[in-house]
Amino acid sequence: MATTQQEIPGNLLAQVSQIHQTVQDEVAKAYIGPPALVQSLMTALVARGHVLIEGVPGVAKTTLVKAFAATLGCSYKRVQFTPDLLPSDITGTTVLDMRTNQFELREGPVFTNILLGDEINRAPAKTQSALLEAMQEGQVTIEGETRALSNPFMVLATQNPIEHEGTYPLPDAQVDRFLLKLHMHYPSPSNERRMLGTYNQTLAPINPVMSPEDVIRLQDLADQVHVAEEIFDYILSLGHFSRDHQQVYLGASPRAALALLKASKALALLKARDYVLPDDVKELAPMVLGHRIILTPDAELEGIHATGVVAEALERVAYKHVRR
Ligand SMILES: Nc1ncnc2c1ncn2[C@@H]1O[C@H](COP(=O)(O)OP(=O)(O)OP(=O)(O)O)[C@@H](O)[C@H]1O
Ligand SMILES: [Mg+2]
Repeated sequence: MATTQQEIPGNLLAQVSQIHQTVQDEVAKAYIGPPALVQSLMTALVARGHVLIEGVPGVAKTTLVKAFAATLGCSYKRVQFTPDLLPSDITGTTVLDMRTNQFELREGPVFTNILLGDEINRAPAKTQSALLEAMQEGQVTIEGETRALSNPFMVLATQNPIEHEGTYPLPDAQVDRFLLKLHMHYPSPSNERRMLGTYNQTLAPINPVMSPEDVIRLQDLADQVHVAEEIFDYILSLGHFSRDHQQVYLGASPRAALALLKASKALALLKARDYVLPDDVKELAPMVLGHRIILTPDAELEGIHATGVVAEALERVAYKHVRR
């Protein structure tokens, strides 16, 4: 395997892991919870991906995302999705400037580095699409004028589970614009207790740890992470398992396989490695593939979840180390 093939200098890898740890420490000032969530947000950022966070009300979705954004030293905007939100409330609109008598483009909140789309499933499909399109294309067209979005650009969207009333579920075909889908659960008893004990203390200010340029540098570095042939095979086999599965209507697409590859490279980098291990792929598969696999109606009725199929794939698909 390529484990001996050092492509990224060791001191650079150590720096990356140091930055990751500092982000963890800063976020922990506001959010009490498992470091795994912050690691996932960092992974998506470094992989140039977007994140959908699902959880019931009051489990600190907004708190986590705000704290994370604050550590990045990037521009940050928040849009609260509501049933009357219009696509132009996200992308922008042209307005008549009375002084010059000319139409001017007024940029919407999508023109930022980090966009928090809070409760994305409270707005109707047309408005959701405006955001999802921008995420896909990296640009928006407003009344014929096309503008590129900022770099880096990351959307962190939150939603309550779709069974809740008054929501518009994101279309299946568009959920895969999100590199990762994370689930936030109730805190552990000890963490919840800690939260109760600290709620009225003034929060230590969250310091920015990075700059937009640093983020881009990390993203470029992740591109250099080495991927062995066996890892490619493993990723493909996991995807194929989902396509051949009896209870699956639509399995993981080639785009899903690519997403798993990119995320695995980013995670390896954060763990101060310049090569991907099968464990990186295993750790990320549920977050990358779970929301991209669509079950048959029968399987849904039986209460089976796509994450169950991913778990089965991880159990049944063997990682084969082949000497080539
Ligand atoms: N794990 C936690 N760490 C720190 N604060 C927490 C935690 N869990 C809940 N809280 C506190 O609970 C309150 C609700 O959190 P927050 O608004 O972030 O939840 P939410 O998941 O975004 O809810 P909603 O779905 O209603 O928007 C906040 O005051 C937050 O500080
Ligand atoms: Mg919230």
